[in-house]
Amino acid sequence: MPSVSNKGKHMPESPIRKLVPYAEKAYAAKKTVYHLNIGQPDIKSPEIAMEAVAHHNLEILAYTRSEGSQEYREKIAKYYKKNNIPVEANDLIVTTGGSEALLFAMGSIADADDEIIIPEPFYANYNGFATASDVKIVPVISKIEDNFALPPISEFEKLITPKTKAILICNPGNPTGYLYSKEEIQTLAEIVKKHDLFLVADEVYREFTYDGSKHYSILEEESLAEHGIIIDSVSKRYSMCGARIGCLVSKNKQVISTALKFAQARLSPPTFAQIASEAALQTPQSYFDEVITEYQDRRNTLVAALKAIPGVIVGEPKGAFYCIVQLPVKNSDKFAQWLLEEFDDNGETIMVAPAAGFYSSPGVGLNQVRIAYVLKKESLIRAVEILKIALEKYND
Ligand SMILES: Cc1ncc(COP(=O)(O)O)c(C=O)c1O
Repeated sequence: MPSVSNKGKHMPESPIRKLVPYAEKAYAAKKTVYHLNIGQPDIKSPEIAMEAVAHHNLEILAYTRSEGSQEYREKIAKYYKKNNIPVEANDLIVTTGGSEALLFAMGSIADADDEIIIPEPFYANYNGFATASDVKIVPVISKIEDNFALPPISEFEKLITPKTKAILICNPGNPTGYLYSKEEIQTLAEIVKKHDLFLVADEVYREFTYDGSKHYSILEEESLAEHGIIIDSVSKRYSMCGARIGCLVSKNKQVISTALKFAQARLSPPTFAQIASEAALQTPQSYFDEVITEYQDRRNTLVAALKAIPGVIVGEPKGAFYCIVQLPVKNSDKFAQWLLEEFDDNGETIMVAPAAGFYSSPGVGLNQVRIAYVLKKESLIRAVEILKIALEKYND
């Protein structure tokens, strides 16, 4: 029998999706499952975006340019300028989600066996993109005790080798909710300039910052013009995950012309979704104000309820809509499976994402889970109550 690739064999399963068969068993047993495991917001997509697709006047659903439609790119550039990020349409390539922007970024800056340093825990699919790109992730560990603050520079410098091509951060962070300060971005800028590396910032949660704090983008830092690459997406910003639109942004012309070749190979990003995403740019600030108030409220409710459970430790997320939660269990993979297969409280249970998959260091995060607060407040309260009851019953 022909055999599949070693690379394919090494592709990690998504820790977020791998429990789905157990969730299906739970549905078959007529249990209600509260989904704390996945970052699919329950917020409505902007009407203006849905209307734009409903009332299109296309006669042919044609390809667009590989870098995305010119009108859309010009409008995205305006959006960035409004956010103090001085870029032009030519500095960005529209991609099929932030996911493709990550693949294009890795493909454009790293060769096989090159290394990218990433503070962990990190967005689990970075492991998959790195495997697909033959790139080695070198983790620098951030700790729940420090609320996942950036490790000291000395920790990064210890890890830099001739193979290191970039530092990749997620800001605000999935799964930690950590928001980097302007000073931290400037510190990272110094390291990447000193060692001539790229700084890749996944800023797909840029708008989601709480307690009045403001996001500071790497491209607000002028000195990063040649080093900085932003990964972006409409998925969370406008609750348009199914549009599959993102972009890769850089002032470095070589990065853009290289990424464009990857973009040409897949011809074009989806046309309807670009129409929706272009219209979404007209979304009024009031939409974000409401959404952010809602998420902040949910975060406050969730964190307070979790902290009230004996033995549970939770960070203080400042952005995005996730948190890492340390549980009094030995193996959160087994616990998450048990929650779906064997446990219910009045016919209800919860689904969480075991956190080990958000680390690349073996054996780390085994007693942690990631929780997404993308459910209404009442559901979050009930979900945490279920967690508390489950922890009392669970025996590992
Ligand atoms: C940190 C981060 N980056 C990138 C993505 C990819 O998003 P998409 O491909 O939907 O734009 C996600 C999705 O959850 C994410 O959380």
